[in-house]
Amino acid sequence: MTSLIKIEGVRHAYMTADGPLQVLDGLNIDVQEGGFVAVVGPSGCGKSTLTRLISGLLKPDEGLVQLHGEPVTGPRSTVGMAFQNPVLLEWRTILQNVMLPLEIVPNDLTKSQRIDRARHLLALVGLSGFEDKRPSELSGGMRQRASLCRALVHKPEVLILDEPFGALDAFTREDLWQAMHALKEREPFTGVLITHDLRESIFLADQVVVLSGRPARTQFVLDVPQTGPRNLDDLYTPEAVDMLATLRHQIEIAQGSKPKEGAA
Ligand SMILES: Nc1ncnc2c1ncn2[C@@H]1O[C@H](COP(=O)(O)OP(=O)(O)O)[C@@H](O)[C@H]1O
Ligand SMILES: [Mg+2]
Repeated sequence: MTSLIKIEGVRHAYMTADGPLQVLDGLNIDVQEGGFVAVVGPSGCGKSTLTRLISGLLKPDEGLVQLHGEPVTGPRSTVGMAFQNPVLLEWRTILQNVMLPLEIVPNDLTKSQRIDRARHLLALVGLSGFEDKRPSELSGGMRQRASLCRALVHKPEVLILDEPFGALDAFTREDLWQAMHALKEREPFTGVLITHDLRESIFLADQVVVLSGRPARTQFVLDVPQTGPRNLDDLYTPEAVDMLATLRHQIEIAQGSKPKEGAA
């Protein structure tokens, strides 16, 4: 296994009216090819900034941001993204929305192959039969499923998810985790998931990186064993509860509060 995304010693500050705001200060993250890393940390610590560095929308002030050992110098089509707000185009059907990247990113697919590809992904996330609906005819969870399909339709090697399920209710969110598993099993990508849901992080990722409060550095890394949790019941096993307690403890440290008495 080789490292696909490498972030080493990254520092980044934004220029603001009040002077520079140091956001990242010593970030190290390594994502293996085919790996799925979740990044958690206090609100405002710099998680979305990290996604902008990986996607080439921002350059670090210091340190390395590399894909396949090459510095990231700008946006590339091999990186797909999905956000909390799905931003689907209302004048297009769901199928047409999912096909959009295939119209933008160069590829050899014929029109009918593009349609097949989009239909295939929609079927994987349970949206067969909704291809010809408009975004406003779908629930929030369904729109987010479609947006995941759109992010993957052109087979990007990296998928960046910035709190994609954050706006959904708890049950819909759990359904989406399972849709994400279905995609992950069938589509080969390397994932970076920003989330503030610790259960989501251990359910979807094989490694969880905890960032400190701003300016963020890599504070803690948890490896999720290959054996689990891979269905919702597994989130209540002693092993999963133990991982969640460890992460909760780390978040408390990141937020600068003292861990509660007796917390694991
Ligand atoms: N373009 C910008 N200019 C100035 N400050 C910014 C900009 N983008 C984000 N920030 C600030 O940088 C900090 C980190 O932002 P962000 O990466 O969005 O955090 P997170 O995603 O972890 O909540 C926040 O304090 C935010 O207000
Ligand atoms: Mg953010």
